[in-house]
Amino acid sequence: MDVLINVFVGLHIIGIAALLGGFLTQMKAMSAGTARFTPAMLHGALTMLVTGVALVGLNQADDQTVNNLKIGVKLAILVVILGLVYVKRDEEKADKALFGAVGGLTVANIFIAVLWT
Ligand code: HEM
Repeated sequence: MDVLINVFVGLHIIGIAALLGGFLTQMKAMSAGTARFTPAMLHGALTMLVTGVALVGLNQADDQTVNNLKIGVKLAILVVILGLVYVKRDEEKADKALFGAVGGLTVANIFIAVLWT
């Protein structure tokens, strides 16, 4: 079970890479107002959702304690991220503030994950 959980943590991190990478590589474009929500960001956010839910299930099946409040906060933040990226995915230029919000919320979720123990 440990190996399976670790595999899903690895997939969870690949999801972060796609979502945050899509943001970081466009920071300059964001300043110019020409950044856009890319398919990698959408698929990264979806990967976070699927692997996160799977991790909750796997940890519970393995009798490990899951911090429901922490997971709830992470889920709520991801729902906002996913909603923004999904709704704006076809727009050629993303609003600076919205694009920045997605990056900021993603970074916030990373620190919630690692600091809230
Ligand atoms: C942008 C969204 C997210 C980010 C950046 C993120 C980030 C992370 C990171 C860095 C880890 C590894 C560090 C650790 O073990 O604490 C992790 C683990 C985990 N994540 Fe996420 N996560 C996100 C969304 C979610 C969602 C939506 C869920 C559940 C619905 C979730 C559930 C979990 C679980 C269960 C673990 C295993 C370790 C633990 O108990 O905290 N994550 N996440």
